[in-house]
Amino acid sequence: MTDQDHNHQLYIETVGCQMNMLDSELVVAALRRDGYVLTDSPKQADTILFNTCSVREHAEHKIYSALGRLKYVRRNNPQKVIGVMGCMAQKDQDLIFRRAPHVDFVAGTGQLAEIPRLIQETRSAEKRAPHKAVSLGRRDGSVSEIAGSFQSYDPLRDPEMRPTPFQAFVRIMIGCDKFCTYCVVPTTRGPEQSRPPSQIANEVSVLAGQGVKEITLLGQTVNSYRHTENGQLYQLSDLLERIHDTDGIERIRFVTNYPKDMTDDLLQAVRDLPKALRYLHVPLQHGCNEVLSRMKRGYTVEDYDDMMHRIRATIPNCSVSSDFIVGFCGETEQAHQKSMKALRDHRFKNSFIFKYSERDGTKAERLFPDDVDDSTKRRRNNEMLDLQNRISEEDNSEFIGGKVRVLVEGPSKSATKQAARDAEPMPGKPLATQLAGRSECDRIVVFDGNPRLAGSTAEVEVHDCTGTTLIGSIVTREVQHGSTELLPILS
Ligand code: 5AD
Ligand code: SF4
Repeated sequence: MTDQDHNHQLYIETVGCQMNMLDSELVVAALRRDGYVLTDSPKQADTILFNTCSVREHAEHKIYSALGRLKYVRRNNPQKVIGVMGCMAQKDQDLIFRRAPHVDFVAGTGQLAEIPRLIQETRSAEKRAPHKAVSLGRRDGSVSEIAGSFQSYDPLRDPEMRPTPFQAFVRIMIGCDKFCTYCVVPTTRGPEQSRPPSQIANEVSVLAGQGVKEITLLGQTVNSYRHTENGQLYQLSDLLERIHDTDGIERIRFVTNYPKDMTDDLLQAVRDLPKALRYLHVPLQHGCNEVLSRMKRGYTVEDYDDMMHRIRATIPNCSVSSDFIVGFCGETEQAHQKSMKALRDHRFKNSFIFKYSERDGTKAERLFPDDVDDSTKRRRNNEMLDLQNRISEEDNSEFIGGKVRVLVEGPSKSATKQAARDAEPMPGKPLATQLAGRSECDRIVVFDGNPRLAGSTAEVEVHDCTGTTLIGSIVTREVQHGSTELLPILS
């Protein structure tokens, strides 16, 4: 019997935002330390975890369907352990056991540290019974009791599940106190709590020591970050300055921003700190003041316009992206046209556009009927997507003939698919593959090169584009920070 036979096999499926990707990475790292190995087959796994999202109904349906399919797998393999973690676990709790009685445990977003114990207890129990580790609801205690029941889970990790070995997420805050009327996040992720700057700085140093070059600071409203340590108040601009000089870190970005907290000190920090990417994701959500007010976003279209002017005036060539919701309660055709106008006015680099999905327990569900029919939502969604694509393509074409600096991430998606199709690479086939990376303004760039370039910074000349991608060829590769050398494409 080999060592491998002693290992537990873990299958994990993650949906939702970058916060969920990070949570999965951390849970997997903890389980690896307990001897688990990852498998991509739920049939082979003895432990199955779903890291879930509740932001839209569709994401929840997908998880309930996946759980439904597992009913029979579990019937034939009663020793399998099945757990649901993340936003649905916190929001639905016992409902998950009622809809999928073969689930052994649920662990909310603030209880991830409990997962190894929950798995262990399930496995060793003589008779299976559902286990639950969840945090308090937003009305179930004092502010400090509720906050205390949501733990930020940031143990030391191992690099295996990162987007790439040289890119990592770092959580700087958890929760949200904005309570936009359509949104479940304040319930599923609890009160807004910022992590101490010294802890964050330490984590960034550890990651840099492991070879990470690019970090993405995460928070639901990341620019609302505030923490007082040793008598000093740290805002996001101070935190950026504090971690900026970490040796080995070359790029820093942060998502997602809240428009009202986009203060001048932060814009100046992005302008002045060379490692800060020239990119801001600041969701507008809607272009009509009446809708913004029903959403309780806390700003007007004019406030957002003013913020965009400040961004453009302070940070030259900064790209800005947004989220929009179409078909929110009471959205008229006129109101929708105002969102279209906002897209035209601000020419976002890209926008994520969502059809409104009514969520249980939100203020919008209690106060406003979900009165825009689905086909209208779909049509408005498509209109916004078409317009955004046209804008993105036009603005990307401005890059043609110029050069961009790209952190090379590895083979592009299409190259990866092609490699999977070519099980046997053709003898004598050149080593060049289509590689992908991102520019300093967060645009996806593809070009041919040797996969060994992954993790290095390359200068790429752009000669074509689509709405989502700049297409170019490599000019130089940076060998050490600050110096460049010419490198043949196929080296
Ligand atoms: N319906 C549709 N989209 C939503 N979002 C948040 N809640 C909802 C909802 N109930 C969108 C917002 C947010 C993004 C992460 O998801 O645009 O910025
Ligand atoms: Fe949800 Fe609004 Fe908080 Fe964003 S700011 S997570 S949309 S409540």
